[in-house]
Amino acid sequence: MADELNTNIQPPAGLPPAPGVQSPAPRPPQPEVRKPRQDKPPENDRGIWRMNRKSFLNVAGWFAFFSFIGTATIGALRLMVPRVLYEAPSAFKAGFPDDFVAGEVNEKYKDDFRVWIVRETDGFYALSAICTHLGCTPRWLPSENKFKCPCHGSGYHKDGINFEGPTPRPLERLKITLDDDGQILVDRNIKFLYEKGEWSKPGAFLKYNG
Ligand code: FES
Repeated sequence: MADELNTNIQPPAGLPPAPGVQSPAPRPPQPEVRKPRQDKPPENDRGIWRMNRKSFLNVAGWFAFFSFIGTATIGALRLMVPRVLYEAPSAFKAGFPDDFVAGEVNEKYKDDFRVWIVRETDGFYALSAICTHLGCTPRWLPSENKFKCPCHGSGYHKDGINFEGPTPRPLERLKITLDDDGQILVDRNIKFLYEKGEWSKPGAFLKYNG
């Protein structure tokens, strides 16, 4: 009876069995059970894209709503910003007469206003820098004392009279006067055409003997 009890007593973990007590037989190694790997979701699992018809319509509705709001807001903002095309004023002040050198073509206002101001010994005239053939901008060639159009070769004397190329008529002159403050005032809206005899009209030439 005592032997039977001894054989059933298990020593504490880590201690050798008491004398006369048989060690329990070691357990046979258990085969390792491996779980199957799942690199891919099941074929019918759509993950975060799992969505029923009602959810889809919900999302589509919100998307359309915010698209509409965004488009309307952008349109309203664009309406509030005026679309202005810059255009140089038709009339401008060109400085004081003594700023100009007698006998020279002044090109200071050619780029901004397409105007040359020519000073002669007895006064000024303003020439439009627009070729009377098809509207290109001619160049002033001081060494040749002429205006030459780069487009089709029309040429003009310093006074604006055409003498070569396809252009049918002289350059146009623009109204030139002295303003109250003593500066030269050029008005591009008022033109004087040589072929109509207008170069002798008041405003086509500014007399000045300063
Ligand atoms: S546009 Fe000047 S010559 Fe034709």
